[in-house]
Amino acid sequence: MIKSIDTSRGSFSSKFGIIAAAAGSAIGLGNIWRFPYVLGESGGGAFLIVYLLFVLSIGIPVMLSEFIIGRSTQMNPFGAFKKLAPRQPWFIVGIMGIIAAFMILSFYGTVGGWTLEYLYKSVLNRFSGKSADEVSHIFEGFRNNSYRPLLWQVVFMGLTFLIVVAGIEKGIEKYSKILMPVLFFLLIVIAVRSVTLPAVSEKLNPAEGLRFLFKPDFSKLNAKVIFDALGQSFFSLSIGMGALITYGSYIRKNDNLGSSALIISLSDTFIAVLAGIAIFPAVFALGFNPQSGEGLVFKILPVIFQNMPGGYFVSILFFVCLSVAALTSSISLLEVVVTTFVEELKISRRKASIIAAILITIMGAICALSWYTFRNFGVSTFDESTGQMVHFNFFMILDYIALKFLLPIGGLFIVVYLGWFHGKKDVLKELSNEGVSKVIYYKLFMFLVRFVAPVAITIVFLNETGLLKFN
Ligand code: PHE
Repeated sequence: MIKSIDTSRGSFSSKFGIIAAAAGSAIGLGNIWRFPYVLGESGGGAFLIVYLLFVLSIGIPVMLSEFIIGRSTQMNPFGAFKKLAPRQPWFIVGIMGIIAAFMILSFYGTVGGWTLEYLYKSVLNRFSGKSADEVSHIFEGFRNNSYRPLLWQVVFMGLTFLIVVAGIEKGIEKYSKILMPVLFFLLIVIAVRSVTLPAVSEKLNPAEGLRFLFKPDFSKLNAKVIFDALGQSFFSLSIGMGALITYGSYIRKNDNLGSSALIISLSDTFIAVLAGIAIFPAVFALGFNPQSGEGLVFKILPVIFQNMPGGYFVSILFFVCLSVAALTSSISLLEVVVTTFVEELKISRRKASIIAAILITIMGAICALSWYTFRNFGVSTFDESTGQMVHFNFFMILDYIALKFLLPIGGLFIVVYLGWFHGKKDVLKELSNEGVSKVIYYKLFMFLVRFVAPVAITIVFLNETGLLKFN
């Protein structure tokens, strides 16, 4: 029997609706901005392999667990755990999730702002006729500007706020459906151009970029690379903080959770790899350092557009799509906070959205100006591998704490709860839609959530802290 849907909370109107919305949350700057630069810093192919292993063995199980918890409780992450396990501390997952959402959205808004600035610059054709070096300087100049990154961060947060205030159905569904396929198509076009880009000197070759991406150099594999891959996989899939518990609570009772999680995770991963194929051949053809940090794609993409027929239009369309992809992710971050505030503090949606958006925008302002006004605000540490001092500004600190600690630890709690405490019958009931469909992967799923995912996350942490050394 199919339970009636709690219509007062709303639900997605079709299976495609939830897949589009959750994929909208997952696919964003994480895939196109963060994945390439982290892969570049972490030595290429070896990172990719570890990343893929984490998506399959940890990411998909965590995502499905979040969907199960969300749909069975019909609540925000905090409320969901209080309902499932009253008087037990599992609700901490909800609290960590809110903190993670605050941190992530603070720096995410900054990069969303960079994207809007690049859309603006594309419209004005500001990259026209510029050399690769000049394009790099444009990025640095913008990021080190005293107010522009802030201005755009505020615009980006304002847009996020407006969409969330408009409500879940109207707000989320319509944006993600049309522009995600366009983004996908554009990435393919850019990848083709990147691979065929003429090298700037005879020693350089775009094919090196593909080798860098796909040919693993396992000598580069170390604790940091593995730790980076774990954080990136959680961030990219939007898991570990309850964003997908919140989305899961809006999935209709007769939609298949397992296939949804699989489709979303695989498309997210595919887009990330595609972004890699779009970026690295150009990086190598232009003689760029793959370890260029947060600016990597903003320095490379305009150069590719300059070398493409119709590049002016492609670049505008691309940054429009990227902005929308960023927004469908940022709204899911704000949604976590807003849904929790509304349901737990019993305040109106409008009020909750205003409070959350203002607080996050203020914290985000420090991130946006982390390369200028607040550049000394942070911590400096000695990097043993390079023998140099490295400075972590506020932006980097938030990214580090949220991705490396809050998300994986949140994910660990989620799978441990689901695997060991949730009750097998209830898991099966959700996965099979109350017995309507067969769940052939049930045993595999339980094995992953009970053993593989928790053990793997724990080992990565022990390895990183040096308590356990695998390399
Ligand atoms: N997954 C999003 C991206 O790749 C970011 C995000 C992380 C969204 C966590 C929600 C929760 O851009």
